[in-house]
Parts: sequence; structure tokens; C-alpha cells
Amino acid sequence: MRLWRGGRLATLAGDSGWGLIDDGALLVEDGRLRWVGASAELPAEAAGAEVVELDGALVTPGLVDCHTHLVYGGSRAHEFEQRLLGASYADIAKAGGGIRSTVAATRAASEAELLASAGKRAAALLREGVTTLEVKSGYGLDAATEARMLRVARRLGDLGVDVRTTYLAAHALPPEFTDADAYIDAVCRWLPELYGQGLVDAVDAFCEHIAFSPAQVSRVFDAARQLGLPVKLHAEQLSDQGGSQLAAGYQALSCDHLEYLSPAGVAALARAGTVAVLLPGAFYALRETQLPPIAALREAGVPLALATDHNPGTSPTLSPLLMLNMACVLFRLTPEEALRGLTVNGARALGLVDRGRLRAGQRADFCIWDCAHPRELAACFGHNPLKERVWRGKRQQEQQGQA
Ligand code: NIG
Ligand code: FE
Repeated sequence: MRLWRGGRLATLAGDSGWGLIDDGALLVEDGRLRWVGASAELPAEAAGAEVVELDGALVTPGLVDCHTHLVYGGSRAHEFEQRLLGASYADIAKAGGGIRSTVAATRAASEAELLASAGKRAAALLREGVTTLEVKSGYGLDAATEARMLRVARRLGDLGVDVRTTYLAAHALPPEFTDADAYIDAVCRWLPELYGQGLVDAVDAFCEHIAFSPAQVSRVFDAARQLGLPVKLHAEQLSDQGGSQLAAGYQALSCDHLEYLSPAGVAALARAGTVAVLLPGAFYALRETQLPPIAALREAGVPLALATDHNPGTSPTLSPLLMLNMACVLFRLTPEEALRGLTVNGARALGLVDRGRLRAGQRADFCIWDCAHPRELAACFGHNPLKERVWRGKRQQEQQGQA
């Protein structure tokens, strides 16, 4: 057993409030939190534990980045320049750039090359406190490359982080197909094989006028349902397609982006208990002006999560801490909502209820910060106050190769 004591804990243990414990302690056994409370009220069983002094540092749950496209080849920085000159994301996609340009670079990359580049990106996320990470496929768009991406994603776990993989073959129409319905047939055909290889934890799609229609998405979701796999959706990012209502009908874990979400969409998410994942990095980089309907989501009681959406096109950020700040400044989340979005609600968007809070029984994934109060994590930007990341109760030097 190991005991961390003498820190300020932001437990997020209840449904609202920071759950602050000013002089707090955490007792850890076998990768789980055995006890969390005030240092003055330690249970007797803590007596023999190895002690780590927190010296007044802030402790929060480990960060959960529930939406990333971390594995890919190439770069799209030239599209950033094109957009600055006036081209829109949709214009670039229609001209064969965008997702398709990353598909070409990803198909050309070996597994070792993809692992090397994604490993560097994952390491950057870990340096800001990420302990659980979702990674999507979707830049292969053929069976072999989708499988390669998902294998690489799994191997990122060797860095000392939990990885959840999501099959996103319904991301864009690959160049060898002209008929989107025929491509969706292939997407549905590949899924059972990849799932059988243990490579898929959830299924996602891009429902948009430049991607796939609700009818096409529902065929992918039916294939997921046959395997008992949960679904998620890139929904209402550029226009209202009614994707959220569709996804809610499949009890989706999450709908992500949501700038153009309608009142009916909000109600559908609320009824289904689907998490709304907000992606301020993509909103910012695309200079979007349409805000997701935060007040309506809040009022309807839809859980709000937050993620980097790291991808080479619309959100090339590796900073979950910057997302905390952007969620507050751009979307008017409170710092507490933002941190819940990157912890307990991020976990929920992945179907995980065993992490995201500092509470007995939860996973011992937590971050130790050089901060006095958790609101500082959202108020400051462009600097990283992380002192140490504890994953499955392991200190930094004990983590590699442990997944
Ligand atoms: O989450 N919106 C679709 N998918 C990604 C972007 C993918 C890309 O442009 O490469 C997103 O923003
Ligand atoms: Fe995305």
C-alpha cells in the first residue's frame, strides 16, 4: 500500500462542486483508491503504507481525453495557410484535401512510422496529465490500414496509459469508391474481423454533408449493435443533420462537436443519457462562430465532456490544459464544468465509470499539480503545472511497459 498525504484534493466526488479536501490523503492498493479523506482522519490500515508527501500540492483525477485522432501520417499545416487565405474546411475537403490527404499519407506509412509519430503525440498528452486516452481510426479507409491504425493505437498503451480504440472507417469516402453506399457496405463488412482481433472498443462515424448521411450512419450503427459495441458520433459540426437524434436512438455513449445541434437534438441527448463532447480546439482552429448550445445542454442535464480532438486538420493541439481554458473562454463553461469534462464526464463518454473522481473504489489515476486551487488549471494557459502523473497507483518511473 502507498499513501499520498498533505495535499489539496479536488475529488469531484459528488455531482457538483469541486469536492475539495484541504489537507487530504489518498491510500492506494493494487492500482485502486482504497481510501480518500482528510490527512487527520487516516484509517488504521494506513499505518504500514509507504508514504509520499504532497507538500500542499493540488491533486485531481487523471485526465481523460475521450476524442482523438492520434494515429496518422503526414501534416496538414498547408491547409492552415489555405484557410487563412479564405478557403473553408468544406472547400478543402471537396477539392480532395482534408481527411483524404491524411488518408494518402497514412496508407503510405509503415506501422513502425505510425507508432513513432503517434508515440510522440501521446507522450505530449501524458506530460499534461492524461491517464486514459481514446484513439480513433479513420485515416485508413481500407481494411488493412484501418487495422494498422488500431494496432498502433493499442500499442500506445505501452507508454503507461489506458487506450480505448474507436473504429471510424465511416469518416470520409476513400478515392477508390464513388458510391458512398457501397463504401458503407465495406465498412460494415470489415468491422467484425477487426472486432474479432480485439482492436475495437466502440464505433464512430462522421455524419455531415461532406461525409455520410444519417441513413448511412445508421447502417454502420446496426453493424456495431450486432456485435454489442457502443457507438459515438461526429454530429452537427458544420450543419444540423439530425445525427444526434439518430445516435441517441442507439443509446450512443457520446455525440461530439455539436455546434449546430437543434433543440430537438438537445432533448434527444438528454433522454438517452448521451454525453455531449465539446471540442473547442476544432471550433477555434476553424474560426467557427456558431457556438454549441451550452446553456440548453446544461439546462437539459446533458453531461458535458471536453477533449482535444487531436487531428492534423481541424485541431492539431496536444494540450488538454489549453482545452480547459478554451472551453471556459470560448464556450463559457465554468472551470469546474471544464475539469469534469476532462475527467469524470470524459470517462463517461467512453462508457467508463471506474475513473474520473477521487473516491474509494475508483482507479488510482491522478495528477499532482503545482497549483493552489483547481480553477487555476482553467484560468492559466500556455504553461503546464503538472508535477507528477500517477497511473494505476504507479509513480512516473514505474509506468512504462505496464499496460
Ligand atoms: O473531429 N470532423 C471530422 N473529423 C475530424 C477532423 C478530421 C480531419 O480533418 O482530419 C474532427 O474534427
Ligand atoms: Fe474528431
